[in-house]
Amino acid sequence: MEFRRKDLLGIADLEPGEIFHILDTAAVLKEISTRPIKKVPTLRGKTVVTMFYEPSTRTRMSFEIAAKRLSADTLNLTVAASSATKGETLSDTAQNLEAMQPEILIMRHPTSGAPHYLARRLRCGVINAGDGIHEHPTQALLDLLTVREAKGRIEGLKVAIIGDIAHSRVARSNIHGFTKLGARVVVAGPPTMLPPYLETLGAEVTFSLTEAVKDADVIMMLRLQLERMGQMYLSTLREYSAHFGLGLRHLEGAKDDVIIMHPGPLNRGVEISSEVADGPYSVILQQVTNGVAVRMALLYLMIGGEKE
Ligand code: CP
Repeated sequence: MEFRRKDLLGIADLEPGEIFHILDTAAVLKEISTRPIKKVPTLRGKTVVTMFYEPSTRTRMSFEIAAKRLSADTLNLTVAASSATKGETLSDTAQNLEAMQPEILIMRHPTSGAPHYLARRLRCGVINAGDGIHEHPTQALLDLLTVREAKGRIEGLKVAIIGDIAHSRVARSNIHGFTKLGARVVVAGPPTMLPPYLETLGAEVTFSLTEAVKDADVIMMLRLQLERMGQMYLSTLREYSAHFGLGLRHLEGAKDDVIIMHPGPLNRGVEISSEVADGPYSVILQQVTNGVAVRMALLYLMIGGEKE
């Protein structure tokens, strides 16, 4: 199966064959980043615009690096220094950027559905780089690639996703991605952070970190999204960490070759200890490396190679 979409808005929309095609393309393009000269002319003459209405280190930088490695021109809208501060609407900002004729616009926004809103209004492609608490599709794709590299497969694995599921677009995209490819997904967290619809997405739900970790092939820890919470989700960080912070002792229940993932940014000592984050089971930095490869693959598939 090929990937011939104008936009990438979520993993929920994708067929398993499309996901595999993106992962296979990323696996091939990853080699470019190991060369002494990390650049190919594939997207010469194409323009990629990033528009981030929320902070980002990994996603924005890796999209920019991915575009540059494929020789595309990149432009970044610095929202705080843009005319959005003078009251310009999201739609007007995006339509003005589109008038400069980029091939693709990559956006992160605190409102769930914002990229979908723009995708309906713009002729250029739109990639969702994280919308509110809804989806973060490129994070899930890089996570799938990392697991497939480490384990050689996705199907049949037990994937434990632990933490603030309610506010996590990463969790939602990964539940869609891993279940579509045949993994068993178990989510765990405090009851206040486990929304009621998770089972309808295909995930199993537990309130116990120990139970989620038992026999897990993959443990994915999530950051508490304090910026999206009121006061009612947890009593103290210390109590949260005592129940849902991953330490070395928890790994005894997991498979011997378990891998530890985290989308970043880490809150060390809250959801994950430094011994685990920096330890031999951690693939956290491999995830970041694979983020470049997956984003190169998407840009290539959406505005280069196959589209043409
Ligand atoms: N994983 C992730 O989205 O990180 P950033 O917020 O730094 O982009």
